[in-house]
Amino acid sequence: MCGIVGYVGDSEALPILLSSLERLEYRGYDSAGVALIENGEIFVQKEVGKIRELVKSLWGKSSKAHCGIGHTRWATHGVPSFENAHPHLDPSKSFAIVHNGIIENYKELKEELINQGHIFTSQTDTEVIVHLISKYYEGDLLEAVRKTIELLKGAFAFAVITKYEPDRIIGVKQGSPLVIGVGENENFLASDIPAILPYTKQIIVLDDKEIVDITKSSISIYDFDGMIKTKHSMFVPWDIVSAEKSGYKHFMLKEIYEQPRVISDTVRGFLSEGISFPFDIKAINRIVMSACGSSYNASLIGKYLIERYAKIPVEVGYASEQRYEDIPIDENTLFIAISQSGETADTRFAAQYAKDNGAKLLSIVNVVGSSLDRESDYTLYTHAGPEIGVAATKTFTAQIAVLYGLAAFMGYERGSMTYEEYSNKIDKLAHIPSKIEDFLQNTDLNGGVYSELSSAKNAIYLGRGLSFPIALEGALKLKEISYIHAEGYAAGEMKHGPIALIDENMPVVFIAPKDKLYEKAISNIEEVLARKAKLIVIGNASDQHLKDISKHFIGIPDLDEEDLYPILSVVPLQLIAYEVANRLGLDVDQPRNLAKTVTVE
Ligand code: AGP
Repeated sequence: MCGIVGYVGDSEALPILLSSLERLEYRGYDSAGVALIENGEIFVQKEVGKIRELVKSLWGKSSKAHCGIGHTRWATHGVPSFENAHPHLDPSKSFAIVHNGIIENYKELKEELINQGHIFTSQTDTEVIVHLISKYYEGDLLEAVRKTIELLKGAFAFAVITKYEPDRIIGVKQGSPLVIGVGENENFLASDIPAILPYTKQIIVLDDKEIVDITKSSISIYDFDGMIKTKHSMFVPWDIVSAEKSGYKHFMLKEIYEQPRVISDTVRGFLSEGISFPFDIKAINRIVMSACGSSYNASLIGKYLIERYAKIPVEVGYASEQRYEDIPIDENTLFIAISQSGETADTRFAAQYAKDNGAKLLSIVNVVGSSLDRESDYTLYTHAGPEIGVAATKTFTAQIAVLYGLAAFMGYERGSMTYEEYSNKIDKLAHIPSKIEDFLQNTDLNGGVYSELSSAKNAIYLGRGLSFPIALEGALKLKEISYIHAEGYAAGEMKHGPIALIDENMPVVFIAPKDKLYEKAISNIEEVLARKAKLIVIGNASDQHLKDISKHFIGIPDLDEEDLYPILSVVPLQLIAYEVANRLGLDVDQPRNLAKTVTVE
């Protein structure tokens, strides 16, 4: 998730671009840059690091440019570096582009351009776009952009300028956000409203498959077929802080609602990057997974999926425990470290122990260029963008999406799954975002379940099979932001002791989707009901029986791939934790005692 901005108008562009970028830093901050049209040429300045590094590098630069674009990067293709920072230029330095999104087919487009003699300077997918625009330019930037986007697959929001048309910016919106700020003798483009709110509250939100052609005194919007579209601006009453949260009260709630897009981006990234292990996956006879917190809970999901699809034995451990144990590891062990930050000390140390003992190290991280990324033999990325809330939400579901794809890929590579079965799994995964969207659009935070738990001192979360790690994750979410003691447990294990805890005062949250263990879950639910627990069920919305026997019931959409229920069933648990903490008036985004990334033991 990157941030793009554009300005054309009577004022100097540079200070506007820089301050706009600062208000987009929450979208990504591993490098930043600006491109300005001045004296008939394109001036570009880029820096690795936060916006302040870019501001420092431009200190004292006086620019009379009235048209320019800017970018703050959250790396998806290519590590954070000067070469990969945006804006990107075509070889003739006559066109500049800033982009947010993922071009799925960039590799084949790049290969074709290289065969035609194009020379690239970065590893990014974005650079392909500006090469194509330059190739198709015959005097009209809009026309060149239209020809280019016909070739692009994936998600993209970009802004492009050319020295040949110094007072014009063309923007395109497909899958990633883009808004227009309407000013007096000036107009703005940005990934998100906060960037431009200090300059105008009149905003036009672009929809997918729209192109915008802006000058200081005109805004024209077209569809991808070139038909003009009429769109009206809206007045946005927000202040900057609420705008960064897109109007949500907390970043955590915003990030819960971002999950449909995040899963789409993660699947896109997974498909566009593909998987090419630098080791023989067939030689692997054992997998050890290592993580902390929510990433540990995601690892447990990975264990179930990899064992089911790839038939390799998988051991999962808390990184903080593993690093002090002599885990048997050799060159036929694949060590999978999962960490959204890529900086968790416990996980990094466990990974280092594994590498020192000959294991192949595969990591799943959300931050490209993080320590764990750089220390791994191979990395798969979640494309969740920066997660501001301390409680993991979108990064957790993105991890499960990657693990699901990885398990299916391993199954195919090792011959326990046909290519058709593999691609069918990926196709089912690609449909999950709409299911999450359906659920979120039909959810209200007024149900009795929230007051039930807000007044509780303890709670038990139960699940079987793939729902067991989700029970752990739901309990962790409640604990860490509402400070209510909650325990996640394997439902079948309750009768071996913990069921003694259950009485009419104990809320029990049971995750029971219609999967292969549903009947077993029903039996466990009967055991819980027999002890008069306050039963809260997360189940299929079509499940009338569970609705009838639950004190509170939250329904999730039916899926035709039961192994994907974890991505869906965790969302109501995230909302439960959020709303309970919110009602208790607690600091949802920054709970007491916690840090977003634990870089110490
Ligand atoms: C989860 O909500 C917590 N923020 C915490 O448990 C977190 O998952 C854990 O610290 C691991 O972080 P990582 O994924 O960045 O390694």
